[in-house]
Amino acid sequence: MKKVIALTLALMLSVCCLAGCGSAKDDNTLTMATNAEFPPFEYLEGEEIVGADVDIAKAIAEKLGKTLEITNIDFDAALTGAATGKYDVAIAGVTATDERRQNMGFTDDYYTASQAIIVMADSEIKAAADLEGKTVSCQEGTTGEQFLLDNEYAVQSFKTGAEAISALTAGKVDAVVIDNAVAKALSSKQDGKTVVLDEALTEEAYAIVTKLGNDELIGEINKALAELKAEGKLAEIFEKYELPYDAE
Ligand code: ARG
Repeated sequence: MKKVIALTLALMLSVCCLAGCGSAKDDNTLTMATNAEFPPFEYLEGEEIVGADVDIAKAIAEKLGKTLEITNIDFDAALTGAATGKYDVAIAGVTATDERRQNMGFTDDYYTASQAIIVMADSEIKAAADLEGKTVSCQEGTTGEQFLLDNEYAVQSFKTGAEAISALTAGKVDAVVIDNAVAKALSSKQDGKTVVLDEALTEEAYAIVTKLGNDELIGEINKALAELKAEGKLAEIFEKYELPYDAE
């Protein structure tokens, strides 16, 4: 009897381990890390992770003949997870920056974005120039945070963009800096209390993260992306989520 229990336990453990560590996946699964706090690219609808990135990931996985498996974690953990190969990819509205290129692989770009400012509708802040001496919130580990640090603003970083905007509506900070489309999506949920300023602070491009040097996977994904673009599928996905898109 003891033996049976021990065996069952051992079996359960090995199954759990297989399911738990993304790297031990078979070839037919594409493991993706994301941070579903970034509407309309990835967000939760009940229990389900949805959004433009999710649709793109599904379309890519289909072209690769793989089953997509999504894990929802903190943004910085998603980046590290893909960089270390724990997950095949991170798809999370990730801006391809020179700094990140030092330790992670990137596919071709699939979307252009910028950082934008959210303020209270009655704020005296009308442009980036008015941010001087103000306290600004953002999502931790993002290019928005990097922008604020580089420009030496007083920064308050939060795990999620939603918390960053809550800090604004609670009067704890003077502004939020976050990716433009996400700024619009988050601000639209505040019953007109907040507005997004019409000024682009940066120029950025989103790409899919892989482990550095995983050129085989990068090549496969680039091919899939190019096809999805040519087929008009990318444009269709962005339109579905009301994301402005220039199919060059
Ligand atoms: N584009 C920004 C960056 O790469 C923010 C991305 C945040 N993404 C997310 N799913 N929370 O840093």
